[in-house]
Amino acid sequence: MGLLAALVLVGTSVAAAGGSSQCFPDGFLLGTATASYQVEGGVNETGRTPSIWDDFCLSRENVQCATVADDMLHRYKSDIAMMEAMGLTSFRLSISWSRVMTWNSVLQRMVRNDAGIAFYHDLIDAVVAAKMAPIVTLYHWDLPSVLHTEKRGWLSRDIVPHFKEYANLMFDEFGHKVPYWTTFNEPWSFCVGGYGEGYHAPGLSHSDTASYEAAHHVLLAHAAVVRLFRSRRHQFFPSARIGIVLNSGMAFPLDPTSAADVAAAERKLQFILGWFLSPIVYGDYPAVMKQYAGEHLPVFTPEEKAHLAGTYDVFMLNYYSSELVTDCSSPRSGVACDKLMQGWHRDAAVDSDRFPHGARPASVNTRGESNCAWFNGYPDGYLPLMRWLHAHNTSAPILLTENGWCGNTTIDNADQLWYFQTHLDRVWQGLQEGLPLIGYTAWSFLDNYEWGSFEPRFGLFYVNYSAKTGGKEVFDPLPTELQRIPRPAATWFGQVAQTGCLPP
Ligand code: NOJ
Repeated sequence: MGLLAALVLVGTSVAAAGGSSQCFPDGFLLGTATASYQVEGGVNETGRTPSIWDDFCLSRENVQCATVADDMLHRYKSDIAMMEAMGLTSFRLSISWSRVMTWNSVLQRMVRNDAGIAFYHDLIDAVVAAKMAPIVTLYHWDLPSVLHTEKRGWLSRDIVPHFKEYANLMFDEFGHKVPYWTTFNEPWSFCVGGYGEGYHAPGLSHSDTASYEAAHHVLLAHAAVVRLFRSRRHQFFPSARIGIVLNSGMAFPLDPTSAADVAAAERKLQFILGWFLSPIVYGDYPAVMKQYAGEHLPVFTPEEKAHLAGTYDVFMLNYYSSELVTDCSSPRSGVACDKLMQGWHRDAAVDSDRFPHGARPASVNTRGESNCAWFNGYPDGYLPLMRWLHAHNTSAPILLTENGWCGNTTIDNADQLWYFQTHLDRVWQGLQEGLPLIGYTAWSFLDNYEWGSFEPRFGLFYVNYSAKTGGKEVFDPLPTELQRIPRPAATWFGQVAQTGCLPP
C-alpha cells in the first residue's frame, strides 16, 4: 500500500464514537512517541557528529546501526501529515545533542551547530502547524561520542555543565514553541544497560558501581536543568512544564500472602522507579536502596538534596509489562533465585519472573505471544503502577509517555491492537478514579531501531525496511523502501483521537 493509500485508510475509516461512554476529557493529549537515533537516520548530515550509539554499533558485530533508520530526517513532513490525519494532538520526539552541537577542541566544549538546529526548528514548526503539542526529550540516550571519550560521559560529574549548556541553548531556540520538556528518557535503562550490563552504549560492564555513579550524575544534571528552566521559562513560555521520563514494569508479589514477597516486590519498584523518583521528590535515594546497595550507592550532600527535591512539574511514566517477584532469601519452589545482591545490578535480593508456570496476579488478562524476552503485556499492571507513582505526590499531573506492544512483526497484528485497547481502557479508568492523567503517547509512531536491531517492531505503522537497513553503511533508500503502512492499531488509535472516545 502506498503512503497516500495509507493516509486515506487512516483518515476515512473513522466510525462515529456514537454510544461510547468512555471519553477522554477535553485537552487530554493523545499522540505517539519516537526518539532521534531510533528514527532519524542521516547520521552524517546537517553537521551531525557521532554519538555513543554510532560507536557502539560499529564496534559490535551483532549490533546493527541506525544509519538510515526510518529516514525521518527527510520524511518528517509526510510523517507529521499522517499523525495529523489521524487526529493526534501531541507528538513526543527527542533532540539529538550530536546534531545540534559540535565539539570545539580549543574551547573544550560543545558549540552550536546551525544546520542541526534548523532541522529541529522545521520539525517542531511542522508539529505545531499540525496542531499537535510537541513533547521534547533532551536526552534519549545518544550522548555525543566526544563527551564520552574526552570527558568520561555520565561517569563524571563534569558532564553536568555540558548538559546545562546544551539545555540552555535548546531553551533559547525552542523554548517559545515547546509546552512539555523532558530532561532524560528512562535513566534506569541507559544507566543499567550502558554502564552496568553493557548491552547498551557505551557498552561498559566491568564495574559494580558505574551504574550508580552514572545515575548520580544524571540526577544532578536533571536538577540543574530543571532549576535553569524554572528561572527562565517566564521569558519564553510561562505555562511550559518539565519533567523526567521514568520507567518500570509493575512488580507483583509471587505469593501475595507472603510478607517477604510483598516486601520484595516493593523493593524491586524502589530499585527501578524509586531510584530516580525519590531523589526528585524527596531529595534522596530510597531508604531500602541505601540499605541493600550500601557503599555502592553515592551520597548526596545536604545542598544537593535541597537542589534535587521537587525538580519536576509533571510525572512522566513509561510502562510496558509486569512481573512477579519473590524474595530470594526464601525462594519458592519452581522459581529460580540466583539474583542475590552482588553489586549494583542485582535487584536487591529479589528475583522476578515473567508470570512463570502459569502463576499470575489476580484478574488475569494477558494474551498474545511476544518474542521479547523482557516483555509480558499485562494491562492490569498499568493502573497499580500509576497509583504507586501518584502516591508520591498526589498533586503532580501524570503524562503517560510510552506504552506499546513489543514483538509485532506482521502488518495485520491483532495482539498489538488488543494491547492498545486494553491499556487505553485502563487509562480511562484511571481518569474515572481521579488520577491526574493529562495525556498518553503510544510507543511508537512507526517501527524503528530497537537499540541493537530493527526487531522487534513497535510501530502503529509498519515500515517496509530495505535489505540494507541495519547495515553499517549509509545508503539511499529506494522510493518504495521505508514506506509506512498502518497496522489495525493505527486505524483504531486514529479513531480514538478523532472522536476523543474509546469505541464501544
Ligand atoms: C523505552 C525506550 O524509551 C524506547 O527507546 C524503546 O524503544 C522502548 N522502550 C521499547 O523498548
